[in-house]
Amino acid sequence: MPHSRCPLNAPDLYAYDPHAPDFHAFLLPAFVLAALLLTAWSAPAAAAPPDTLAQRVAPCLACHQPQGRNDAFFPRIAGKPEGYLYNQLLNFRDGRRQFPMMTYMVGNLPEPYLREIARFFADQHPPYPAAPPVAATAQMLERGRVLVQQGDAGRRIPACVACHGQGLAGVAPAIPGLIGLPRDYVNAQFGAWKNKARRAQAPDCMADIAARLTEADVAAVSGWLASRPVDAAARPAAAPAAPLPMRCGGVPDHGGVP
Ligand code: HEC
Ligand code: HEC
Repeated sequence: MPHSRCPLNAPDLYAYDPHAPDFHAFLLPAFVLAALLLTAWSAPAAAAPPDTLAQRVAPCLACHQPQGRNDAFFPRIAGKPEGYLYNQLLNFRDGRRQFPMMTYMVGNLPEPYLREIARFFADQHPPYPAAPPVAATAQMLERGRVLVQQGDAGRRIPACVACHGQGLAGVAPAIPGLIGLPRDYVNAQFGAWKNKARRAQAPDCMADIAARLTEADVAAVSGWLASRPVDAAARPAAAPAAPLPMRCGGVPDHGGVP
């Protein structure tokens, strides 16, 4: 399993607020977990490191590496919009997204701390690793491009750019960019929306959109997105250019749709 590669030093993260009421209940399992995982941890004993947020989120980097590891399983979190990252931490905490280690890590952390963590990662902009070549026919890529840029009105599929921004770099605060995501990760997320393993706050616009896309649509869209060059200087737009075509939970005012 890929996650056995992760050395984890979880207690650092919980150094945040030792007086929080539920901290002690959580501490014991956290140490047990850490002890199990520490077999993979070979750092020599050293003087206590400075207590900074960067230090406390070091356990996250075991899986979400600083340079923004870009594989299908461990998503890059650096540089994604703050509100988006915060919503995902809430989604894991509240069981709308499933990955036991994520739920475990954020389960008992107070919301202001989750927001601090989200802000920390949103401000990081490490370079992107080179993308692997995309295996797709020209016809498939064209179908993907049309769905992303124009949607398919007959099937009530809005254009992805209508929410994710014309340049697909995302829209602050809560809509992520779509360029630079590994193709397999995008495919996996659509699978998770379709089978309800990934949900957002209601109304869950992505789950509704995923339900309208066939597997061939998803493969076309993920292939076209992965074929686009990443502009490392691109940043999320400050606000949507127009009200979103659907209401989305977790987005301020549901995206301006009444
Ligand atoms: C043991 C590995 C592991 C550790 C440690 C870990 N994560 Fe994750 N994280 C994952 C995996 C795997 C996913 C993707 C799960 C999925 O596909 O739904 C994920 C997803 C996320 C996401 C959603 C990303 C997105 O683009 O939607 C965020 C945000 C996140 N993690 C933040 C954190 C933070 C903050 C920490 C430290 C407190 C952390 N993770 C620690 C494995 C880990
Ligand atoms: C009505 C607005 C809207 C439209 C249209 C839309 N999206 Fe989204 N998308 C969102 C929102 C909001 C989120 C964040 C959901 C969450 O918080 O989990 C999101 C999240 C995503 C993510 C997750 C990224 C990650 O890092 O995990 C992917 C992938 C995605 N959308 C792909 C698409 C594609 C492909 C299309 C077009 C077929 C599309 N979206 C159309 C609003 C939209």
